[in-house]
Amino acid sequence: MHNDIKEILLTKQEIDMMVHKIASSVNDDFRGEEVTAVVILKGSIMFAADLVRCLTVNVKLDFMQASSYGSGVESSGVINIKKDLETDVKGKNVLIIEDIVDSGRTLSLLREEIEKRGAKKVAIASLLSKPSRRVVDVKIEYIGTEIPDEFVVGYGLDMDEKYRQLDYIGILKPEVYMS
Ligand code: PRP
Repeated sequence: MHNDIKEILLTKQEIDMMVHKIASSVNDDFRGEEVTAVVILKGSIMFAADLVRCLTVNVKLDFMQASSYGSGVESSGVINIKKDLETDVKGKNVLIIEDIVDSGRTLSLLREEIEKRGAKKVAIASLLSKPSRRVVDVKIEYIGTEIPDEFVVGYGLDMDEKYRQLDYIGILKPEVYMS
């Protein structure tokens, strides 16, 4: 275990099980159809890479990097798209792949944006959810697990770009993020 980690929250095996469970639901729900996986950079790359390899439906991959502006409690915030999709999602089934839902602002705005572009169906898969931090209510079709409000890193999640490469999800020692 990395020295900055206080405790392992989810082991590689536990993550694997969650990924397989989500994949199996996606495979059932989109059987016989094509899905455009919209991978939200950067945190979701590990989850997305593992998830799409378990999908049996036809998958196309595209990437987006976005963040939300402002602190409004409604989904009327503004989305800042740092990197946009190459795909025109009009008429497509879109699976948005995220690592974590916190306040819900980013995903709520992203969902709105993709729907506005005319997607046929939009579904969201997020590995983690912190319900205690939710400010905007957003529908998440597939959630790996709910977690407490702790500073988690690993499996794509970072603190100042560090720890993304860990193959488990760990809780950071307070002295690491307080310093
Ligand atoms: C994280 C996460 C979501 C967002 C969730 O991304 O991947 O996109 O924050 O927070 P919210 O529910 O409060 O909107 P981050 O901005 O840390 O970027 P990263 O994925 O590149 O690390």
